Amino acid sequence: MPRIIIFLSLFITYAIYSVVVYSKGTMSISSSAFHESEKIRNGKELFQQYNCISCHQLYGLGGYLGPELTTAYSDPQRGELYMKAFLQAGGPRMPNFHFTKEEIDDIISYLKYVDTTAVTYKTRQIQ
Ligand code: HEC
Repeated sequence: MPRIIIFLSLFITYAIYSVVVYSKGTMSISSSAFHESEKIRNGKELFQQYNCISCHQLYGLGGYLGPELTTAYSDPQRGELYMKAFLQAGGPRMPNFHFTKEEIDDIISYLKYVDTTAVTYKTRQIQ
């Protein structure tokens, strides 16, 4: 007799669990942890539209004319103001795209977001 009770309670738990997993899915994870604000999305679109990846790398992929930008935001040698200067005026080889102040802010938000996601990239030993 107790066996059937154990079986039924396990079966009911399994059924409830299945319904919860099936109906909730992974939506809550994606909306909280990977939430992209409007500014980040705009910055990402600008980054794609102006094909920054042709000269710069993100997560190790992209062109090699310009520097890697994945961790540029938290890099003590570079950081926000340094990047803004290049976005405002260009550089010796970096083109000046004549961005507005808002566009520059959005691109910086995107690069800041990229920087926060680069956890393994930061802990990797570069030899
Ligand atoms: C034609 C190639 C090219 C393109 C396209 C390009 N860059 Fe650059 N970028 C460079 C180079 C080269 C540098 C280094 C400074 C220099 O030599 O002018 C640089 C420097 C920078 C820097 C300063 C960071 C550092 O480590 O020096 C930032 C930020 C940056 N670029 C962002 C962007 C963004 C955002 C875009 C797209 C809107 C973009 N770049 C498009 C070539 C490019």
